[in-house]
Amino acid sequence: MSMLFSPYTVRSVTLRNRIVVSPMCQYSAGGDGIATDWHFVHYGTRAVGGAGLVLLEATAVEPRGRISTEDLGLYHERQLPALQRIVRFVHEQGAACGIQLAHAGRKAFSPKKGQGPQEPVGPSPIPFDEGWRVPLELDEAGLQAVAAAFEQAARWAHEVGFDVIEIHAAHGYLLHEFLSPVANHRSDRWGGPLEARLAFPLDVVRRVRAAWPEAKPLFARLSTTDYLPGGFDPDQAVEVARALGQAGVDLIDCSSGGIAPVRPPDYPGYQLKPAERIRREAGVPTSALGLITAPEMAEEVLQNGRADVVLLGRELLRHPYWPLDAARALGAEAPWPRQYLRAKRAGDR
Ligand SMILES: Cc1cc2nc3c(=O)[nH]c(=O)nc-3n(C[C@H](O)[C@H](O)[C@H](O)COP(=O)(O)O)c2cc1C
Repeated sequence: MSMLFSPYTVRSVTLRNRIVVSPMCQYSAGGDGIATDWHFVHYGTRAVGGAGLVLLEATAVEPRGRISTEDLGLYHERQLPALQRIVRFVHEQGAACGIQLAHAGRKAFSPKKGQGPQEPVGPSPIPFDEGWRVPLELDEAGLQAVAAAFEQAARWAHEVGFDVIEIHAAHGYLLHEFLSPVANHRSDRWGGPLEARLAFPLDVVRRVRAAWPEAKPLFARLSTTDYLPGGFDPDQAVEVARALGQAGVDLIDCSSGGIAPVRPPDYPGYQLKPAERIRREAGVPTSALGLITAPEMAEEVLQNGRADVVLLGRELLRHPYWPLDAARALGAEAPWPRQYLRAKRAGDR
């Protein structure tokens, strides 16, 4: 019995299998943060391809939290209808649909992506790297505004019809910046020891959890290591995951890096060890993520209890129908769309 193709139930949502489309920015919204036909076709195709959960890309909760002017946004009612169209179609294909809520913090409008109209903000006035703008240090009112933006985006996500919210607390963006001693040099109640660095992300999680229906799952993506001495590390990630779990986060999506220009390792499963630790030590379900391309490997991590779902990023860009092929490889029943059934078995005419 394939575990990859066994359903996964979290709160009131049941995924038809454990294959999740990893959130991937498409940089294809025209300046207003509204999803375009590109998004409709891109996400729709991955649902047709058989994934259990299609997670939409990092979507900014406020304009100054965008990575680029082409980011998706969920900070205005005008942005809802195009997302509704995507969710409706993804649901029609039998997949669940989620959205990653994000704030880019000091990495907003990178030099490569072009300066944005808004000043980037962060926990401390420390730029990401040479050539990057110095972020404005968020004061109490600024912090409350960001938390309120996450909360409002969660309400809208429900109105759109999303099944899952993933809070982006990884890759050197705002919430990760608070968690990491690399970017957070504050001496007030939001900085210093881990408990204080965790306070703002936890606040955001609690507010989102309260605004998001009890029946719907909430995920959080963490960078489980900064790959830097003195940075955020897997020991801290276990503590953070435990606190997030207690605050109602149902799954920790285990990524890594991004707080500084450091290259992560590049072998299949390079982020798996911390995921296993979090699952075991914090008692919170986790994802397996990172250069997973082989169905057998996806099956192995689940069978051996190393993670609860498998996320694929680039492999699903190369092969949107990967789940259909993976089912064949694992001898499982594939969620073929009825329109394509005549192509299910090679050799059929
Ligand atoms: C084009 C592209 C865009 C990405 N955008 C996001 C994003 O919006 N949010 C996020 O958390 N990770 C993002 N990532 C990281 C992926 O979700 C994933 O974690 C990473 O690619 C590793 O998985 P993979 O080896 O299966 O691709 C992006 C990756 C790619 C290739």
